[in-house]
Amino acid sequence: MRKFILIASMLVIVLSIVGCGNGATDNGTEAPTGNETANGNEAPDEPAGLSPLEMTNVITTEWSNSGKQFAMAGVADRPATDCASCHDGFGFSVKNEIDFGTQWNPGGANDDMDMFPEHIVGIDCQACHTGAGAEYMASGTVDLPYATIDNAGAGASCMFCHSGRRNTPAVFEEYAAGDATRFSYPHYGPAAVMTGLGGMEYPDMEYKSTGAHANLQDSCVSCHMPETEDGYKDHSFTMDLAYIDQACGTCHVGIEDYNLNGFVDEIQAMLDTLKEAIFAETGAVDLYSSRGQLVFEGPDGEPLSTDEVSLEAFVAGYSYYEVKYEGSYGIHNPAYARSLLQNSYKALTGEDM
Ligand code: HEC
Ligand code: HEC
Ligand code: HEC
Ligand code: HEC
Ligand code: HEC
Repeated sequence: MRKFILIASMLVIVLSIVGCGNGATDNGTEAPTGNETANGNEAPDEPAGLSPLEMTNVITTEWSNSGKQFAMAGVADRPATDCASCHDGFGFSVKNEIDFGTQWNPGGANDDMDMFPEHIVGIDCQACHTGAGAEYMASGTVDLPYATIDNAGAGASCMFCHSGRRNTPAVFEEYAAGDATRFSYPHYGPAAVMTGLGGMEYPDMEYKSTGAHANLQDSCVSCHMPETEDGYKDHSFTMDLAYIDQACGTCHVGIEDYNLNGFVDEIQAMLDTLKEAIFAETGAVDLYSSRGQLVFEGPDGEPLSTDEVSLEAFVAGYSYYEVKYEGSYGIHNPAYARSLLQNSYKALTGEDM
């Protein structure tokens, strides 16, 4: 089964890549257009372009230098929980066909585990260009734990994995009801911030959102996969200042770095203020994540229990961790990041930040 899927996937990739050669493959086979030089070479005004093989090679090189090349051993090979749906390239591509267990319900109702390979794989071409990844890219629609996003374009393929992985309203409810026995933490959610929908919100407070960022056509891909000089989408995935004009400059004319108007400094200062308020309220001396949960470390070095941390302190801790580790210090959605920090500070201290 796995072999069949692999072969089918490779075919799809090769076919789609071959379909992408914009004219360059036709060198020499096109009917003369009258602007050719005597020796048969193209005149300089013909559009330059990479052959499909050249494009495949540069894209493969970019990808193989990115963090996506490798999978984390000990995480990607945990199909009985849902870790493999994001951490294993194969697991992701088949995630809509098999029934993964969940972290808190290991095993699930899954009887298709023989489909699983013996070896773990990175987030490779197959992961994004076949199965679930290809479906998300084509539909622009993806179900996240807190909302269904239907306008993400090609970026829908990024959002499933980079969602933050928590149903934040449900986690809030559980904590508010006093039913929580552990502290949930956001599992790295640029999409939770960018969409303006996945942070931990108080139902009765107002949260703003920078709509221009949240509604970018192709979302993540518009900024993280700029079009190169050779006319294909860059596959390094990390932000590169060399493309800042393309990613930001169309709206923020003349922008030179991501710290626009000192925004990143402002967020960092807000994070410090919020953390101090959390420590003052709970007596904790440190805040981090460990073994799948948020840790409020007490003065004796022991983690505080949920009885010792109020709802307001928990929401503040969650929001702190969310904004601190979503990757952009709030640039993904500036107004939402500010709201998350300001509102949790207000609820915690009764004062405006
Ligand atoms: C199948 C899940 C999955 C998909 C799909 C995915 N990512 Fe990732 N991404 C990861 C994981 C896991 C890491 C962490 C890799 C590591 O550190 O080993 C990561 C890391 C990153 C990083 C950090 C830098 C790096 O390269 O290590 C960036 C930026 C990133 N992804 C952007 C994207 C974008 C943009 C997309 C969509 C085009 C995307 N990702 C799609 C799982 C995914
Ligand atoms: C919904 C997708 C998703 C699922 C499910 C998921 N992860 Fe992740 N995980 C990610 C992404 C994306 C990153 C990389 C975040 C970044 O670098 O910005 C990551 C990072 C990590 C890291 C490195 C960062 C750290 O916390 O030290 C570990 C370890 C990890 N995940 C463990 C797990 C385990 C264990 C499971 C299953 C119980 C799991 N993940 C399930 C998406 C997921
Ligand atoms: C408006 C442009 C923009 C959009 C849209 C965008 N990002 Fe980012 N992203 C950034 C910037 C800017 C940074 C910070 C880069 C830096 O500091 O070098 C960043 C940082 C990150 C990082 C951490 C970088 C690293 O190398 O570890 C990850 C992961 C990431 N983004 C993923 C995503 C995902 C997934 C999406 C879609 C949900 C997305 N981004 C949408 C601009 C954007
Ligand atoms: C993390 C997800 C991801 C991975 C991994 C990935 N791609 Fe892509 N790829 C994309 C996205 C998103 C696009 C843009 C689609 C669009 O704009 O409609 C794309 C576009 C392309 C294109 C069209 C280029 C263009 O702009 O005309 C080719 C060819 C391609 N990828 C090949 C590959 C190959 C080969 C690999 C493996 C070495 C690979 N991709 C790995 C997400 C990915
Ligand atoms: C589609 C247009 C568009 C793109 C592309 C875009 N932005 Fe924005 N951005 C806006 C709008 C509109 C606002 C809200 C109004 C304002 O504050 O200017 C905003 C707000 C911001 C803010 C908050 C400013 C403040 O002081 O409140 C920052 C920071 C920011 N953007 C950075 C970036 C960066 C960095 C990029 C590229 C990685 C980027 N933006 C890409 C339109 C865009």
